[in-house]
Amino acid sequence: MCRAFSGFTFVFSAFLGLIIFPAEAAIKKYQFDIQVKNVSRLCHAKPIVTVNGRFPGPTIYVREGDRVLINVTNNAQYNMSIHWHGLKQYRNGWADGPAYITQCPIQTGNSYTYDFNVTGQRGTLWWHAHILWLRATVYGAFVIMPKQGTPFPFPQPHQEVEVLLGEWWHADVEEVVKEGTTMGLPPNMSDAHTINGKPGPLFPCSEKHTFVIEVELGKTYLLRIVNAALNDELFFAIAGHNMTVVEVDAVYAKPFTTQAILIAPGQTTNVLVQANQVPGRYFMASRVFMDVPLSIDNKTASAILQYKGVPNTVLPSIPQLPAPNDTEFALSYVKKLRSLNSQQYPANVPLKIDRNLFYTVGFGKNSCPTCLNGTKLLASLNNISFAMPQIGLLQAHYFNIKGVYRADFPDKPPTPFNYTGVPLTANLGTATGTRVSKIAFNSTVELVLQDTNLLTVESHPFHLHGYNFFVVGTGIGNFDHDKDPKNYNLVDPIERNTVGVPTGGWTAIRFKADNPGVWFLHCHLELHTGWGLKTAFVVEDGPGTDQSVLPPPKDLPPC
Ligand code: C2O
Repeated sequence: MCRAFSGFTFVFSAFLGLIIFPAEAAIKKYQFDIQVKNVSRLCHAKPIVTVNGRFPGPTIYVREGDRVLINVTNNAQYNMSIHWHGLKQYRNGWADGPAYITQCPIQTGNSYTYDFNVTGQRGTLWWHAHILWLRATVYGAFVIMPKQGTPFPFPQPHQEVEVLLGEWWHADVEEVVKEGTTMGLPPNMSDAHTINGKPGPLFPCSEKHTFVIEVELGKTYLLRIVNAALNDELFFAIAGHNMTVVEVDAVYAKPFTTQAILIAPGQTTNVLVQANQVPGRYFMASRVFMDVPLSIDNKTASAILQYKGVPNTVLPSIPQLPAPNDTEFALSYVKKLRSLNSQQYPANVPLKIDRNLFYTVGFGKNSCPTCLNGTKLLASLNNISFAMPQIGLLQAHYFNIKGVYRADFPDKPPTPFNYTGVPLTANLGTATGTRVSKIAFNSTVELVLQDTNLLTVESHPFHLHGYNFFVVGTGIGNFDHDKDPKNYNLVDPIERNTVGVPTGGWTAIRFKADNPGVWFLHCHLELHTGWGLKTAFVVEDGPGTDQSVLPPPKDLPPC
């Protein structure tokens, strides 16, 4: 009797299991060997740091709910750390990756396994080195498929293609950076932009170095576009074809159709493309968006969308990209981005705010007797230029190690001024320090990032680790604490992990601090990050048993 009963129970629960848990969470394992390899572009070969000898690096494919184990073995001469950009890493900053923020880097000859769960996210993210400027060549896509049996909230595409936009230097990037730092000036800009590591036919020696997507007439394609460039916001367009934006930063968006997209470093954008034109060859192209007179690499990277059966001799047609300084296009594009906000994918925007933060973004010059002009450029938030610590801030927080950081980062600038008025050259006495903000667990936070005209205005893509946030408002000029919040979108604002602060303007974001740990907040332009345009939030533990930072893994790299 008893046996029969338990046999029944087994069959019954197995049956239930099929119905209720069709999506068995899996463990996905990857091995990343950091190794130096000779790679040739633009008719020059040079050694670059790669993952598994590949450039761009391998794509990680997982499903929502999976546990991912990525063992990184460092065989390069540089210390290394890898960041899984946009992965929330709930309670698990140990797997986040920014060097000296959540871990010390993996030293040459050593390994570290990034071990994390992918929870409540699906879409396109990416990974990159998070130390020095090594992400110039150490980056790849991170694709999270929806749970088994859960369709996309848009028509199933015939095929999915990753499109990674990057930058390429003739010279060794670390040498270029060193040179800039010694002079106190921006390092030389890149020599080319790339699409999947390839500059395309507008550059010399492109025969082997052009990325091609073959399409079939009548079919729909999903492009998973990532801006992995170090310093350039980019426009991307396809000749003769519109794109329908359906997702950004692994969050579904209300679909809209556009001729070109704008994508800042750190951001991702999924678009649907219908192969519905006269079969031929069409250029896909990306070029910079820069609306202040600063010098920048404005060369166009291109790849080819080629209909099946069309010979390579057909000359591709060239897309209309917005002009590099087309502010109007940029602002109107950003306005179109809305969360899908469906029943299944709601936009849970914090409506009541516990903590209001207002951070100014500025440039400055500090004296530097050995530099070219006797000064060096720097950048700051609330007039504080962030100094990198010697050990990970997360370790300092978790083990209560004193003297590593100060938790007194100001909630607003020391002295208010006309932030976006005439160019300001006054030295506001920029301080340097490892200063962070302490945030109470589960509190709701609003952060307004305000660009300033200190030396120059410029747009800045800000990235917050460990969280998505809602972009509730943005505007040009000075943020008005009384008037601007009245125009916030609290219904379906876009949710993302990296947002542009417009040139001479502001952006307001909101999030609920439900992820304890130390989370980096920085401009995703490597140039500006290097100059100190960064800080971190220390989100305190909550009272619950599952509301505190997890213990560190045993193989966490030593400092
Ligand atoms: Cu994609 Cu802290 O960076």
